[in-house]
Amino acid sequence: MTVEARPLVLGNWKMNLTAREAVAYLRDLLPRVSGYADREVAVAPPFTALPAVAPLLKESPVGLAAQDLFWESEGAYTGEISPLMLQDLGVTYVLVGHSERRRHLGETDRMVNQKVLAALRSGLRPVVCVGEQEAARASGRARSVVRSQLLRALSEVPRGEASSLAIAYEPVWAIGTGRAATPADVSEMHACIRSELQRVYGEAGGAVRILYGGSVSGGNIDAFMESPGVEGVLVGGASIRLDDFARIVGFRRPA
Ligand code: 13P
Repeated sequence: MTVEARPLVLGNWKMNLTAREAVAYLRDLLPRVSGYADREVAVAPPFTALPAVAPLLKESPVGLAAQDLFWESEGAYTGEISPLMLQDLGVTYVLVGHSERRRHLGETDRMVNQKVLAALRSGLRPVVCVGEQEAARASGRARSVVRSQLLRALSEVPRGEASSLAIAYEPVWAIGTGRAATPADVSEMHACIRSELQRVYGEAGGAVRILYGGSVSGGNIDAFMESPGVEGVLVGGASIRLDDFARIVGFRRPA
């Protein structure tokens, strides 16, 4: 089994744009990012904008993603959003374990694992975020940190579900800093992630897309997409800048 053929460009809007702003932005964006058959595009608006943007996206090739989910289907979990609620809105992808949630909300590897399993049970496709802090890279522990996050996040995910997964490698120090990782470092980490996936899932581990995230922009996208093992990108800040995101979606790679 080979990696899903089309690369994925996924925009994580984070805590930006009201529902009204989200609709206005998408009306401008959709005509500029809808003409590609050889790449997949999706956006992850905040929860509050999902119902407003869902009908617009339904009529377009751009997919709908959520930024998080809770692991139970319903019940007394004030403030949480269940996989069923997302599925009901037509959400396809869901980010799980973003470093901002790990850092500001104390999300642990175990919680990330519960969320991954819950997403899969509901037919959502988890995009599992992993990435080392700057200190770990400086001390040569980047690979072991990422490997550990990955294996814990995927604990008990059966081989048959592997093809629903995507992994986003987002080094924490590269997020929102304008200081992207080098394409060579990204390729090296992606190879490490790929080898872990294949060790655990065999052939099915070869089908999981591995994305890079961290200060991706219109200026550096081509270099990332040309790098071996980069099967897409998870874009933060630039995903809510119209020209930048349109340029990112329109990345060029050598034939
Ligand atoms: P930036 O693209 O703003 O660095 O954010 C990356 C990110 O966190 C995407 O999930």
